[in-house]
Amino acid sequence: MTAPDLLAHPAPAAADEALFTQIANDVRQRGYAVCPGALPLALCDALLAQLQAMPAERFERAGVGRDDNHTLNRFVRSDEICWITGDSPAGRQWLDWSARLQQALNRQLLLGLFSFESHFAHYGPGDFYRKHLDAFRGNTNRVLSLVAYLNSHWQPDDGGELLMYLDEARGDTLKVVPALGTVVVFLSEEFPHEVLPAQRDRHSIAGWFRVNTSTAGRVDPPR
Ligand code: OGA
Ligand code: MN
Repeated sequence: MTAPDLLAHPAPAAADEALFTQIANDVRQRGYAVCPGALPLALCDALLAQLQAMPAERFERAGVGRDDNHTLNRFVRSDEICWITGDSPAGRQWLDWSARLQQALNRQLLLGLFSFESHFAHYGPGDFYRKHLDAFRGNTNRVLSLVAYLNSHWQPDDGGELLMYLDEARGDTLKVVPALGTVVVFLSEEFPHEVLPAQRDRHSIAGWFRVNTSTAGRVDPPR
């Protein structure tokens, strides 16, 4: 194989490294990255297969922060979620990929990311998540949000976009289509965002990289 062939078909790990560098650069320059087709196809397939095999009871109504007020929760978000563990091959693969992203970001941005938590989210027709921040300034250790989409053949009429408020004073927003393989990374404290109502079933993964805020003698649990 000649050198140009190697460049045209980089090994998956090498392709990921180029992607991770792109994400690091975008986060450094503007605080967020939107990358269509970023999630490796084999990983998309594995996650989709797991979603299909999972009984609906594995999903629970999503909450908001530590608040247990269900009426308020329903007003803010109506999706349902299932936390991802390393117990399934697909979950393992996803956590490996996220861990490699975490390492690359720590190396390139010196963020000191320490742990990662993530869940599948299912939005049925009409479901939404109103405008929110994933972390409140100074009040949390969620530093970086990671969202990945698992929807084949998403059409413009299907709605369900992620609406990001890039600069509220200037009214700058960005709509991200939740198409299979698209990955979004952003600073959790900086960008309010919302999920617009979808017209059909919408699957995503939402995750958060955290820093360790342990004080003397007390180490943060991973979640
Ligand atoms: C979240 C979230 C975005 C999405 O779960 O906090 O903002 O597009 N998800 O699913
Ligand atoms: Mn969010």
